[in-house]
This record gives sequence, structure tokens and C-alpha cells, in this order.
Amino acid sequence: MKNLETLFIPEEIKNIELTGKLVVIIDVLRASSTIVTALANGCHGFIPILSPDQAKKKAQQFEKERVLLGGEREGTKIEGFDLGNSPREYKREAVKDKTIIFSTTNGVKTLEIVKGAYRIIIGSFLNLQAVCKYCTNYKGDILLICAGKEGRFSLEDTACAGMLIDSLKNVFSDTCQESDANLTARLLYEKFGNNILEILRKSQHGQYLESIGLDEDLKFCSQLDFFRIVPIFKDGIISI
Ligand code: MLT
Repeated sequence: MKNLETLFIPEEIKNIELTGKLVVIIDVLRASSTIVTALANGCHGFIPILSPDQAKKKAQQFEKERVLLGGEREGTKIEGFDLGNSPREYKREAVKDKTIIFSTTNGVKTLEIVKGAYRIIIGSFLNLQAVCKYCTNYKGDILLICAGKEGRFSLEDTACAGMLIDSLKNVFSDTCQESDANLTARLLYEKFGNNILEILRKSQHGQYLESIGLDEDLKFCSQLDFFRIVPIFKDGIISI
């Protein structure tokens, strides 16, 4: 019997055995959405590195025309980086065949925390059904991990997890509905249904991004099943 669990923040991972588990990282605003968009636009891969200085060092190991530095702090581009963390910046002409050395606040921190898992994939509203299909075909237990916001609960990541749980409800035995975390996430999704932009606009981080002029990112990240890819994090790189 395979099991499905949800963590509202990555820090809840303590005491959870990751061996053999499929972990789905959900950072709707915006790391997951950016990774999915860039890989769908032909980028070679993402190398997540938490420290901006370490990221700059890593980029020097690559031929200049084959690498880009991408990432944010407080939602804006890190000084000396080529791109911020808006998925709209990761167009095909900008990222095709490039490796992105990537540093963000919550998404990359979460990738660092789950390194021990058997398989790690990237989920968002942009690729939800593709992730659902991947989870359906996976034989072992599944852990949905919301990146949250600086160690705090985030509305958008939890609602996305809830939509995924709802899409998987026929795959999993009743067990998956018993956990309070799964039930809470699913009920949150049911409250909003497919009004994803409304969820993003109600969320704390969504309102912050709007306050710094990034409402277009909310619209972009709210598109359901825009891409049919499942990025996989393996041996330090995220690719498809
Ligand atoms: C993060 O990883 O912290 C987020 O994606 C932050 C953002 O892009 O606003």
C-alpha cells in the first residue's frame, strides 16, 4: 500500500525517513514555476546553490556562453546575476542549451534539505497533471513538500498540494485522506477550486510580489497544465 504525505514547510522533514520515497517540491511563487518554464524552453539544467557567492564561484567552472546565474533575494534579482526569479525572464532565446546556476530563498533551501530522497521532482500549477501522472506510476511512498515562506506556512504551495492530492485520490487508498495535512490541503484547494489566480493574490508572498510590481508573475504562475514536463533533481542538477 503506498502512502501519500504532505509537509507544509520543509523543516517538518525532521524524523521522516526519505529512503525509497518520491519527493515533490512545490514552490509555486516562484522557484518551481521558473524551473519548469526554463526546462520547457530548452534550458540544459539547473544547479541549485543556496549561497550567491558559491553560485558565482560555480559559474566560473563553465564556459561563459554556456551558463547563466539566476535567482532572487526578497523577490528581486541578486546583484551580479544574469536573471532574477521571474519565470517570464526564462524565455527560450535566453536559456536554450544553457545551464542555470540557481539561488533562491525558499525553493533552493528545500532542495538542499531533501537531498537524501530516492527521487525528487518539481511541481507547480504549470505542470500539475504531468506530476500527477508521474506520481500515479510511482510504486513507492510519496511526500509532497511545500517550500513555504521563510519557514512559515504558504497558502499557494498548500493549495497546489491540495489540487494534486485531489487529482490522486483514486490512486491512493483511504489512508491518504486521513492525514490532517492532506485533508487540510485538499479542503483549501476545494475552497478555491480552479480560481488559482485568486489563491495567489490572497497569499502573503503573492501580495508581496504584487507590491514590487510583479503581478504578471502571479498571472503566469497561475496557468494550469501549461507544460507537460516533470523536472527531476538528480546528482546535483535538475533536468528533464
Ligand atoms: C523562493 O524560492 O524563495 C521563491 O521562489 C522566492 C521568489 O521567487 O519570490
